Amino acid sequence: MSTQKISAPKGVSEYVPDRSSSFDFVRQALIQPAKLAGYQLMELPVFEDTQLFTRGVGESTDVVSKEMYTFEDRGGRSITLRPEGTAGVMRAVIEHNLDRGQLPVKVWYSGQFFRAERPQAGRYRQFYQVGIEAIGLDDPAIDAEVIAIADAGFKSLGLTHYRLEITSLGDQESRAAHRVDLLKFIATLDLDEATAQRAAINPLRLFDDKREEMRSAMAQAPLLINYLNEKSRQNFEQVQRYLDALGIAYVVNPRMVRGLDYYTGTTFEFVHDLLGAQSGIGGGGRYDGLMEQLGGQSLSGIGFGIGVDRALLAAEAEGVIGNDSFVSDLFIIPLGESARVQALTIASNLRKQGKTVEIAFGDRGLKGSMKAADKSGAINVIVLGDSEIASGVVELKEMKSGHTSSVKIDSLFEALSI
Ligand code: HAM
Repeated sequence: MSTQKISAPKGVSEYVPDRSSSFDFVRQALIQPAKLAGYQLMELPVFEDTQLFTRGVGESTDVVSKEMYTFEDRGGRSITLRPEGTAGVMRAVIEHNLDRGQLPVKVWYSGQFFRAERPQAGRYRQFYQVGIEAIGLDDPAIDAEVIAIADAGFKSLGLTHYRLEITSLGDQESRAAHRVDLLKFIATLDLDEATAQRAAINPLRLFDDKREEMRSAMAQAPLLINYLNEKSRQNFEQVQRYLDALGIAYVVNPRMVRGLDYYTGTTFEFVHDLLGAQSGIGGGGRYDGLMEQLGGQSLSGIGFGIGVDRALLAAEAEGVIGNDSFVSDLFIIPLGESARVQALTIASNLRKQGKTVEIAFGDRGLKGSMKAADKSGAINVIVLGDSEIASGVVELKEMKSGHTSSVKIDSLFEALSI
């Protein structure tokens, strides 16, 4: 049998101590504003029927055409590891009839997503998102609230070097009018076959083509924002008025193309300045036709996905998050067997009251255990021997100052709370 070390698969992001506590902090901070706005948890499978994504996300997208982890399961079904969260949420809303109850359905989610992209800094094959979806009402105030929730998450982390870009893809009528002129324009271009195919499914995709010759060709293309009908234009202006009222800065970027096909109406991206090529820390928008496309009724929805990996990188780049290792309130060093039993009891009682307590395990002796206490970064330490157990009193030592005080074992909680 081989005893060679096994490495993690290429391009996955993973978090181990000490950085994992920063990751956890960022993830919680990004979710908190959604909880405060009444969004509820949706916990969904990481694999789904492949059709969910081909139908939901769209076959013209890189995500579906090139980046899906698709395999046949043992029952011969085509399964795909979820590349994004919105289609799964919509599937679950329809399946559990949530759209027949109180609207909008407001949910948040958090977890791993999978895209077979070329790995680089900030771009992974397994990455983490937190996201929200508000499904069932088409109201510009919800658009503004959804954007504000993402923004509040970034602000609570202390991020400042980012900008919000917004645009509107309009309603069906606006998009149809634009499509006629865009297709006319595209017909004048000399496209390779793959690009022509992509354009046939979704001509807007060509705005997203990173090749220089395509970028300069598309510079003259008609922009959807100039084709918004009265209703769509008013709707977009209303969203902007709400953002203004909320004091959320934004720039209108009419050339923004999101990487997924379901978007309509308001769409947005948060772009960070210090992350290089992978600068998108979050994005989202409205999706009018998705529910119907997945076999449900015709209800609109809006949401966002934030890349937790990238938000962490952004927080580190801005220096607003330290690489804080885990810090406990108390480190107990038991000397002897009866002290060990006592240490377990003390620790368990203090933990019940919310204190973080560690115990020196193993036979490392006093010197070795003191070293471990030091390394752990614990704020306080006690040594528990026979005499301490007999008297019920310990010497509580504050590690940083070296200051010690005699404390009754029964009063440790109060002493740690000062
Ligand atoms: P998305 O823009 O494809 O949108 O992804 C959202 C965020 O996930 C991105 O802004 C980025 O921060 C992060 N992300 C995407 N791919 C990777 C990757 N390979 N490595 C690291 N981070 C990545 C969606 O997924 C939509 N479902 C968002 C949404 C929700 N729209 C409406 N509702």
